[in-house]
Amino acid sequence: MSACLFLLGVSHEFEGVAALKNITFSVSKGECIALLGPSGAGKSTLLGLLDRRLELASGEAEVLNKPLSKGQRISRKDRSDVGFIFQEFALLDRLSVYQNVMNGRMGHTRRWPSLWARFEPQDHLIVARALADVGLADFADRRADQLSGGQRQRVAIARCLAQEPRLILADEPVSNLDPSRAAKLLELITSCANEDGTAVIFSSHQPQLAQRFADRVIGLRDGEILFDCPSAHLTQKDVTQLYDGFYPETDLRVVN
Ligand SMILES: Nc1ncnc2c1ncn2[C@@H]1O[C@H](COP(=O)(O)OP(=O)(O)OP(=O)(O)O)[C@@H](O)[C@H]1O
Ligand SMILES: [Mg+2]
Repeated sequence: MSACLFLLGVSHEFEGVAALKNITFSVSKGECIALLGPSGAGKSTLLGLLDRRLELASGEAEVLNKPLSKGQRISRKDRSDVGFIFQEFALLDRLSVYQNVMNGRMGHTRRWPSLWARFEPQDHLIVARALADVGLADFADRRADQLSGGQRQRVAIARCLAQEPRLILADEPVSNLDPSRAAKLLELITSCANEDGTAVIFSSHQPQLAQRFADRVIGLRDGEILFDCPSAHLTQKDVTQLYDGFYPETDLRVVN
């Protein structure tokens, strides 16, 4: 399988404090990766770099064949090839659920639409399907700021699905959902991997969900990769060491 992205010796600092240290891994097209790690481990920072919201200052990286280097010009199409589900949802509160999800289609319009009517019938079909997929078809006209946390999270997921990106980056995409819906929606997000080469990377605080839905799990602790292995190989020992920071006879694996 060809590479969707790679990072080579990537480090990141916030005002002199290291958030990521010497990160190296690659992701193939169609692969689904779970990022695990305690709070502050660097998961959101890593996703932010891949999304270009944070600038790559150290190391080398490429996403969808485009380097993450400083000053690199990225077209609207390249931008829309990467979909992001934010930890804080990033919805436009005064817009309706439908309009928020339609925003995911912006990168597919020929010109930047100044009017709502510029979207094609196909865009409306895709938005309606995404809303149905996340169970919000009946909430299409509701303002985003009149939703519960879990409903807002589902709008963010629908917006990303409607975008039809080639890479989905999802930062704790189901953290606000009840266990049953969390599993269903994570299945929906991760099923986007494989079908047409789209890759998915999601962060999570739930190792069981990671193991169930990802092909591979990467464990981050204090900005470093502690393990990178097929999800079927993840052990309780890996998980304990990741969250508690200690386990006798460390079993460190790196599989790429
Ligand atoms: N904008 C920022 N300015 C300064 N430090 C930051 C900033 N964002 C993150 N950090 C620091 O970088 C480190 C990694 O943070 P990050 O948000 O990537 O962790 P995380 O693994 O996503 O945690 P969580 O599970 O709580 O979301 C932490 O020590 C955090 O305090
Ligand atoms: Mg985070």
